Amino acid sequence: MAALLEVENVSRRFGGIVALDGVSLDAGENEIVGLIGPNGAGKTTLFNVVTRLYRPDSGALRFAGRSLLRTPAHRIVRRGIARTFQNVELFDTMTVRENVRVGGRYGDEALEVVGLAPLAGRLAASLPHDTRKRVELARALASRPRIVLLDEPAGGLDHEEVERLATLIRRLRTELELAVLVVEHHMNLVMGVSDRVHVLSFGRRIASGTPAEVRNDPAVIEAYLGSAA
Ligand SMILES: Nc1ncnc2c1ncn2[C@@H]1O[C@H](COP(=O)(O)OP(=O)(O)OP(=O)(O)O)[C@@H](O)[C@H]1O
Ligand SMILES: [Mg+2]
Repeated sequence: MAALLEVENVSRRFGGIVALDGVSLDAGENEIVGLIGPNGAGKTTLFNVVTRLYRPDSGALRFAGRSLLRTPAHRIVRRGIARTFQNVELFDTMTVRENVRVGGRYGDEALEVVGLAPLAGRLAASLPHDTRKRVELARALASRPRIVLLDEPAGGLDHEEVERLATLIRRLRTELELAVLVVEHHMNLVMGVSDRVHVLSFGRRIASGTPAEVRNDPAVIEAYLGSAA
């Protein structure tokens, strides 16, 4: 059976920078897939291409067997694709519930799933960082997507908050039957929740496999050591 999301040989450049260089990867129905790679590897660009914010220079994108290339960005959610952003963007003068309802008609259900129903009436501006991240996730879930793309959901979270996030990501799969594509630098999280992991480095996919396979891949170790040096 074809994957739910298929990215095939996608390239995208910005002036002289090749942000994506012939990248192919996929995510299956109800699968949790990690997307990792050093800073600047092209992870967010890939999300921006899949959600049609950026047009790929070449390559194919398919969702549930149909091309995404003729779907404009504002229709992406209706196709069943939702996302969160690397930097949380909320409407600070709106309540939690109002923020979540921006994402779709199933806002109250989404608030329940992420455990924010008791805070529904609070103003977004008054919330701590981890709660703001959960509001953003709920907003993505409010459209009842088939896949959710999470861009660094653990960014700025402490150890316990990351543990709770891991539990929540697993529940998205079991309770909502979602597929999840998660970009993360937090290795314990991504290796702990993912069925498979794709690795980008300088715009190229350098590895794909189970967390154990990817962790021991010399090309992956080299990419990370190289970036740390
Ligand atoms: N709109 C843009 N205009 C110009 N260059 C861009 C743009 N978006 C991304 N880039 C460049 O493309 C490359 C990939 O960036 P991208 O944000 O996709 O990396 P990333 O893997 O998400 O990194 P990080 O882990 O730091 O978030 C970088 O060199 C970046 O500067
Ligand atoms: Mg990024």
